[in-house]
Amino acid sequence: ELSFFFPKEQTLAVIKPDTLEEHKDEIIEQVQDEGFTISQMKETVLSREMAEEFYKEHRGKPFFNQLVDYMCRGPCLMMILSKENAVEEWRAMMGPTDPVEAQEKAPDSLRARFAKDILENSVHGSSSQEQAMEKIKFVFGDIAVGPDGALQGLEPE
Ligand code: PPS
Repeated sequence: ELSFFFPKEQTLAVIKPDTLEEHKDEIIEQVQDEGFTISQMKETVLSREMAEEFYKEHRGKPFFNQLVDYMCRGPCLMMILSKENAVEEWRAMMGPTDPVEAQEKAPDSLRARFAKDILENSVHGSSSQEQAMEKIKFVFGDIAVGPDGALQGLEPE
């Protein structure tokens, strides 16, 4: 176990409502098989207000309202994933935003398999470590994740 030398990184991963209903167990199993530690997870039905805040970077874009509607349709699964290079590795597992591109370039990716179109694209992942920290704080509050992926300052659920 080399985690002492290669401290783990965290990312926020979200399974979106339609995909959570259809493929929850198989995605969780694959996440674990790929070597991620699921440091925390919870199912949340986002309010419109929360979804708008979560996607505030996209406010004003033509698809913004539809994206918010989609995210509020039912429970999302929010996960803190820990692994060396977690941000990049989870994005690789998701594949490109547009499933047409995903099917071409990464046919085994989650979006190639489960996304319906560029809007209903099944999963979300932070695009940088900075964004990961911000979104983890937004979704889970003030918690710290140790270098081994374990959580500090939080009682287990
Ligand atoms: S960015 O700017 O690089 O973060 O943009 P991108 O990763 O491509 O997309 C961010 C989220 O916006 C959604 N999106 C769209 N929805 C509908 N129509 C179009 N054309 C479109 N382009 C982007 C997309 O589903 C992304 O959601 P997340 O949850 O981040 O994957």
